[in-house]
Amino acid sequence: MLKVGVVGVGGISMAHIPAWEAMEDVELIALCDIREERLSQFAGKHLYTDFDEMLEKEDLDILDICLPTFLHVEHAVKAMERGIHVLCEKPVSLKEEDVEKVYSCARKNGVKFMVAQLLRFMPEYDLLKQIVDSGRYGRVLSGSMSRLGGIPKWSWDGWMGDEARSGLVPFDLHIHDLDFLVYAFGAPEKMVPHRSKRPDQDYLHVVYEYGDFFVSTEASWYASPYPFTAAYRFQFEHAVVALEGGKCVAYEENGKVLELLAGGNVPKEGDAPEGIRVLPNDAFGNELRYFADCVRENKPADKVKQEEIGCVLKLLLQVS
Ligand SMILES: NC(=O)c1ccc[n+]([C@@H]2O[C@H](COP(=O)([O-])OP(=O)(O)OC[C@H]3O[C@@H](n4cnc5c(N)ncnc54)[C@H](O)[C@@H]3O)[C@@H](O)[C@H]2O)c1
Repeated sequence: MLKVGVVGVGGISMAHIPAWEAMEDVELIALCDIREERLSQFAGKHLYTDFDEMLEKEDLDILDICLPTFLHVEHAVKAMERGIHVLCEKPVSLKEEDVEKVYSCARKNGVKFMVAQLLRFMPEYDLLKQIVDSGRYGRVLSGSMSRLGGIPKWSWDGWMGDEARSGLVPFDLHIHDLDFLVYAFGAPEKMVPHRSKRPDQDYLHVVYEYGDFFVSTEASWYASPYPFTAAYRFQFEHAVVALEGGKCVAYEENGKVLELLAGGNVPKEGDAPEGIRVLPNDAFGNELRYFADCVRENKPADKVKQEEIGCVLKLLLQVS
């Protein structure tokens, strides 16, 4: 039984905690947050308001870091130096040099470290990656990706609205789509960013150029409560594959329209293109399960690679 602790029991931990609890070979044993009121709902777990005390008293196999971004590295290093494997929410840091710092700390201490880049574990994006890799619709000719919504107002101490602690839209939101692009296509040859940044809102548009194709991306924290939407549309030689209005569809040049995931993202029987497997509709479960399996079976947790994380941070640092 792997023993897991979570530090940072705020917004995103509410998706991580049930995913850990659903695993039979894992025991979520301890939780830590400086706000005692966040812990009271988890009676029965070992609860801490002091991270060092949790590390001292618990014998954890895995630490899951759901803290605000600016606290990730310090906590990851402390845990890894005690021989604990670390899964860390994105972005690992706002500083490029921190990437080598955390990964070399993991190597030195013989533990696994992975940044939780969720899109890689979402069926909608995993399907797109498989379609790209398989070449089933030919080469990519163009793409667009977007992640739009209103400015988040729930974070502890308003850290998300503070550029020094969150990096705002580029590092907190757009990072998801850029990480996917680097995962699917490698480092772009060129980026052309445009940004409308004000104290109360932040909008980013970036075109990434890949030699023979380009991808246009958008991300926003609008001041108004614009509903959150995440979408993509990729033009291949022989089809358009799109995630729009929550539906993932391949429009083939022969006139066929394949709904790749049925309502609620359940794989649609018979419709998935041949040779393409569909991940379970449980992105956080898929992500945490992957990391736990890597730890249990002592396999490299390399679905998310250091070079990719470094590449993404280097690009984001060019956005001002
Ligand atoms: N994968 C995704 O889709 C996704 C979505 C949202 C957030 N995130 C990432 O998750 C991380 C956390 O974001 P959030 O929205 O949950 O933030 P949040 O503000 O809701 O939660 C952070 C929690 O950390 C606690 N905390 C602060 N300092 C602490 C300390 N020193 N020790 C212990 N606890 C402390 C706060 O009390 C709070 O409960 C961020 O890095 C964010 O970018 C990822």
